[in-house]
Amino acid sequence: MLVKEIKELRSLIKSWKREGLSVGFVPTMGALHKGHESLIKKAVLENDKVVVSVFVNPTQFGPNEDYDSYPRDINKDLALCLNAGAALVFNPEPSEMYFDNKATTVSVSSLTSVLCGAKRPGHFDGVCLVVSKLLNIVTPDKAYFGEKDAQQVAVLKRMVRDLNIDVEIVACSIIREEDGLAKSSRNTYLSKDERQAALILSKSLERAKDSLKNGERNATKLKEVIKAELSKEPLAKIDYVEIVDSDSLENVETIEKNVLIPIAVYIGKTRLIDNFTFKIYTY
Ligand code: PAJ
Repeated sequence: MLVKEIKELRSLIKSWKREGLSVGFVPTMGALHKGHESLIKKAVLENDKVVVSVFVNPTQFGPNEDYDSYPRDINKDLALCLNAGAALVFNPEPSEMYFDNKATTVSVSSLTSVLCGAKRPGHFDGVCLVVSKLLNIVTPDKAYFGEKDAQQVAVLKRMVRDLNIDVEIVACSIIREEDGLAKSSRNTYLSKDERQAALILSKSLERAKDSLKNGERNATKLKEVIKAELSKEPLAKIDYVEIVDSDSLENVETIEKNVLIPIAVYIGKTRLIDNFTFKIYTY
């Protein structure tokens, strides 16, 4: 079922809750692929009813970013959601979500001033605003987010904790193409040559994993390994390569607890991100 109005969505969700059904929620911007599908399928396994939102959120795009050109195909998205077992797709117009004279911002500090937040000013304020609104509208028991956007997961976990929003944030593994490229709606922007060149992201992270396996624990040296691999690809331009604490997102020098290793790389004009978390097990 496709729902475009908040009022209708709220009354449906209320009726489910009256029946004692649990609600899972997967927020998306559409152009859905197997990465999104994996979140929906996980939500379907863990909840009685699953709501997917498809909303290209204007407040999280910078002035020179791809809001207008972002791929949109609601009929295809709806079919994917229903096939994956979702009960409902919420696809509001921007005017349904935002009042012209809206005056409220939602801003998570420190965690958003690094990595993608440093490169995309205002981006996470837009994400936090829309996700807090969506969580208020849907009131799910659990909400599902991909580790592909690891900073987004860390920021939203902090927001939900700080604002006492009654929802469990579930982080889901990155889904990749067979050749290793992390699935992304933005991969459709890549030309044939760029698609091939984009493999350098996952390859460079594999090099870092090899070094970690060989005992490397110096973050600067590990970043050099990743940068050296990325620089082998002429179409790639590094935006950032970082090694940070998984929770605080603060830089680390020596790897002694769980770290997130996120990278952002331009392939031509398209900015792609990838990451992995290195876990130190203590027995
Ligand atoms: P979007 O980019 O459409 O992604 C929706 C969700 O799918 C996010 O949680 C994202 O991390 C997850 N996802 C995307 N590609 C993935 C992959 N290859 N593997 C696993 N999960 C993947 O992220 C957003 O939309 C927006 O910022 C949103 C949270 C909807 C707020 O507008």
